[in-house]
Amino acid sequence: MGRGNLRRSRRLGTVDEARRRACRRVPRIVFDYIDGGAGAESTMRANIAALEAVGFEPRMGVTRGIPGPDVSTTVLGRRLSMPVVVGPVGFTRVMEPGGDVAGARAAGAAGTGFVMSSMSAHTPSEVSAGFAGAAGDTDRLWFQLYPLGGRRGAEKMIDRAAAAGFSSLVITVDTQIHGNRERDVRNRVSMPLRLDARTVARLAPGVVARPRWLLDAARDRFRFEIKAAASTGSIEQPVSTEEALVEWALSPLRWDDFPWIRERWPGPLVVKGVLSGDDARRAVDAGASAVVVSNHGGRQLDGMAATMPALVEVVDAVGDRTEVLVDGGIRRGADAVKAVALGARAVLIGRAWAYGLAAAGEPGVTQVLSVLRADVDRTLRLLGCPSVEALDRSYVRIPGDW
Ligand code: GLV
Repeated sequence: MGRGNLRRSRRLGTVDEARRRACRRVPRIVFDYIDGGAGAESTMRANIAALEAVGFEPRMGVTRGIPGPDVSTTVLGRRLSMPVVVGPVGFTRVMEPGGDVAGARAAGAAGTGFVMSSMSAHTPSEVSAGFAGAAGDTDRLWFQLYPLGGRRGAEKMIDRAAAAGFSSLVITVDTQIHGNRERDVRNRVSMPLRLDARTVARLAPGVVARPRWLLDAARDRFRFEIKAAASTGSIEQPVSTEEALVEWALSPLRWDDFPWIRERWPGPLVVKGVLSGDDARRAVDAGASAVVVSNHGGRQLDGMAATMPALVEVVDAVGDRTEVLVDGGIRRGADAVKAVALGARAVLIGRAWAYGLAAAGEPGVTQVLSVLRADVDRTLRLLGCPSVEALDRSYVRIPGDW
């Protein structure tokens, strides 16, 4: 399994290639979960269109061959090898058994950050051990929180993440409930995926056409259950994933939860899912050390603004008080360079690494990160910019109506 993934990973020269290969490797329902967005997927497409609408303003005759540009950056005081952080993605173990441990190891070895999703079939300590094994410590390891099991469950998850050595807590504020992912509805998938007899019978045609995926998942004993949900109960009163999800829907996180979260979590807080200057200000007032401009990759409310114009608004509103990150549609290093030039410290990637994972496991994620890093380096050289930290709006042409 390992060597096959390494061989397969070498063929991933672009994120788009990883996407194509992921599509051939995993069952349709898994691919659609990664690839799809909410409603008509217009916000998902708008993210990419907005990145394409930002033009570069290069300076000729100034780039040096040696030393090359410095592509590192800092986020929350930690040095990252590139302005690309591996963002939170749910259900990664369904994509490939390595799941979040594979993503964390690849990010740790690449010298960048990893954000573990609450919707993980691995435990925080498994992911933390994987990251620390590759990176040497857990300074760049963050935990993303959904209130599975309501406030009591969230408290337990926070304590577990802190005990496992996670350094920052990411609060996602755009997921009161899940968006209407029409592909998932069409595929009759309701997450979490359960491999009971009925589901297996229904999925059989798609799954038998993907024997390698099936073999890997069977060897991993189909461990798709969300670990965090199960652990929000107690030994005397274990909580099922369904119960944990219902309690989340009954009490989604709100701004008035931030005081107790602040009290409980010892490290920096990151608020993910703001799209306006007003919400970014609210996040900073609530104690955020960083905000992530995000529409959840177009997976929540279809029709929300694209993230790049929103990034400009948020940086102008709070850029002097907090660090701003952004996600949505990042497929190339050049996309990360545009985002940093607009004022982000770094971007988060979601689908990009999920495609790499689904296509070729941990080596697939490593390869995606190395392709992105090489493109950041190339873009800076062609742009005539000495470093990621020297990027500013003078290197880009911003559409007039943003
Ligand atoms: C989970 O947060 C998802 O977007 O599927």
